[in-house]
This record gives sequence, structure tokens and C-alpha cells, in this order.
Amino acid sequence: MIEFKKVSKSYDSQTNVIDQLDLKINKGELVVLIGESGSGKTTTMKMINRLHEPTSGTILIDGKNIMEINPIELRRNIGYVIQKVGLFPHMTIGENIELIPTLKKWDKAKKRKRTEELLDLVGLNPQQYIDRYPNELSGGQQQRIGVARALAVDPEVILMDEPFSALDPITREQLQEELLKLQDELHKTIVFVTHDMDEALKLGDKIAVMKDGKIIQYDTPENILKNPINDFVEYFVGKDRLWKSPEMVYARDIMKKQPATISLERTPAKALEIMKEKQTDYLLVVDVPGDRPKKVQGIITPKELKNKTTSDIKMKDILNKSYHVVAEKTNMVQVLNIMKENKLKNLPVVDEDGYLKGLITQTTILNLFADAISDYEEA
Ligand SMILES: Nc1ncnc2c1ncn2[C@@H]1O[C@H](COP(=O)(O)OP(=O)(O)OP(=O)(O)O)[C@@H](O)[C@H]1O
Ligand SMILES: [Mg+2]
Repeated sequence: MIEFKKVSKSYDSQTNVIDQLDLKINKGELVVLIGESGSGKTTTMKMINRLHEPTSGTILIDGKNIMEINPIELRRNIGYVIQKVGLFPHMTIGENIELIPTLKKWDKAKKRKRTEELLDLVGLNPQQYIDRYPNELSGGQQQRIGVARALAVDPEVILMDEPFSALDPITREQLQEELLKLQDELHKTIVFVTHDMDEALKLGDKIAVMKDGKIIQYDTPENILKNPINDFVEYFVGKDRLWKSPEMVYARDIMKKQPATISLERTPAKALEIMKEKQTDYLLVVDVPGDRPKKVQGIITPKELKNKTTSDIKMKDILNKSYHVVAEKTNMVQVLNIMKENKLKNLPVVDEDGYLKGLITQTTILNLFADAISDYEEA
């Protein structure tokens, strides 16, 4: 775990470019620092491996004050990837990756084996690339080598300062995917700096939005999107962002919370009465009446009620059992697909135990789009 405690930094002893910064980064988390140019992202990152030192305050790694660790030793145990890759042009790919293993005096065979492993890991054929020089590789390939090099000695902590920002959008997206896959396997503690909110939302377990050397909001991507703490964060996120990231809008965010229900033992006359009162032609038939948690058993629409209005008929006799439900965390893209593919106008939402939580209807979705459009026009 990395912890900043009231860390300040000034370069000229007048202005604090980092101002009383508190930040906790849990082990195995990928935390993104985002903010405008000059907000202090790189400075914050470089204090972690002591390329810069705080003017005041403390930084701990796994509870240990980093000022008590030899800086060279510290740096050898922290992977570091920067935008301009920083590969040495006169060294082969293999030698570049083996830089720190060499400093750590690993034997040749061990180094080779590790380098081949790493090239595989970042999607480059070892035989083909290990003896080439950096300028014989594309920008994206060089950046992959940068990542491989950072992983060479299997450090717990990896710092990445805008590692993908010089790449074209397609290569960039590819490398983001690869980083996520890598992280899924390796669970490193990663601090990742970017200017790009899309990248932050995609990669971050948490995002720290920085301004003038301070962290304005530190939260999950979902919360940054949905509950920006102030106008600055909202502006930074972009008002229409939710609509650029529909996979972050979940069924539970859009569902109507109290859908019309009817219990199994009720009659068609009661069904008609509820439909009229709630102005709907779609009722969820549930196992129990009243306010208790309910499970959906089927649905009732005018079709099921047709010619079945006598009072000896109960909902349990006529309910339609072919219906779909989705979990609360089903995202908007999936919801829309399910509704489209199955030609649904209504989609109940249930929790993990199958209890009814709400209902998504065509109207809820239309209203949502209407809101988004009016936000968009205001922005
Ligand atoms: N070596 C230095 N000497 C003096 N001032 C510096 C030095 N490095 C950074 N600064 C100043 O500290 C502030 C924060 O810089 P930093 O590089 O941390 O910003 P950043 O958020 O990484 O910006 P960018 O997005 O442009 O990379 C800036 O005002 C910058 O001018
Ligand atoms: Mg920077």
C-alpha cells in the first residue's frame, strides 16, 4: 500500500505545487491521477520513487517511510513507464528489458528466460524482437517494451506517466486492453497518470481528480461519473460522459422502483382494477402480497385476461411464465440489447437472490434520453 500523509512540495520555496496531499492506494489497485496540465500529477508520481522529494509530509510504502529506503534500491523495486518510453537506442530490446535485472546481477540464463516471458506477456514474439533495436519497432511496440521493462523484476508497484498518450487511438486502446488483462493476472499496485477521462474511466479502480496540487475527488469511476463532488469535477468529467460510457449505467440506476404487482391468489377483476389505477397494462405476478420482498412468478397483460374474467380464476392459473429479468448491475448496453432482441417493452430487475427490485419500461428509457439531451443542450 502507498500512503501520502500531508505531503507538500515546492520547487521554488514559494508556491506549493503539491499542497497537503493525502492519498491512500491499496495493494493491487490501479489508481489513475487525472487533472489539467500543471496540476501536479507527475510530481506526485515522481515523489513515490524519490525522483522528487516532498518538502514536507511523509510517503509510506507498506508502512515504511520511503525516506528511510535507499533511493536507488527503492527505484529498482518500482516499475516506471513514461510517455517517451525511454528505451536506450543503442541497446537491443533484450538489453533494455534486462537493465534492472543486470543491475541486480541476475545470471544470464535467468535474465533471458525472464525477458522471453515478458515479451510473450506483452504480445511480442521473443525470437523476432529480442535482438532488434528500439528504432526498428513501432511506437506501440516500443511502449509494450516499456511495460515489459517495468515488469522485469516483478515489482509490487508500477508507475505509469501518460504511457499511451503518444500513440494513435487504435494502438492506444489495444494497449489499454492489454494492461487490463495483465493487471487481471498480476494485481500490481499501479499509479497511472493520464489527461484522458475515457482512459481513466476504463482503467482505474479509483480515480483521483487533481487541481492545483490537491486531490479534488478520489473515488471509483462510477461515483466520479454519477456523483461528481463539485462543478470542477463535473466539468472535467463532461456532462454527457454518462452517455459516452453507457456500460457504467446500470439497471438499478434507471429502473422504476415500485412497479405494479399482483399476487398469485388474486382475481382478474383485481388485475383490471390495478391496471386502471396504475395506468399500466403490464403487471408482475408475485408470490406474496403486501410489502414483503417478492419474487416474480410471471406477468399479466390484457392478453392473458382476455375471456378469463370469472372470479374462480386466479392469477396463478393464467399468468404468462415467459418473461425476462435482469440483475441490478446489468449495464445499459446489455439492457437495451436484451429489450431489442426479445422485443420487450418491460424488463423486471431483480437482486442476487431473485427478489424484485424494480422495472425498466420503454418510458423510463425514453425519459432518460430526454434528460440526457436537455443536460447536453445546457452544457
Ligand atoms: N523541476 C521543476 N522545477 C520547477 N517547477 C517544476 C518542476 N517540475 C514541475 N514543476 C512545476 O510544478 C507544477 C506541477 O507540475 P507537474 O509536472 O507535476 O504537472 P502535471 O500535472 O504532470 O502536468 P502535465 O499534465 O503537463 O504533465 C507545474 O506548475 C510545474 O511547472
Ligand atoms: Mg506530467
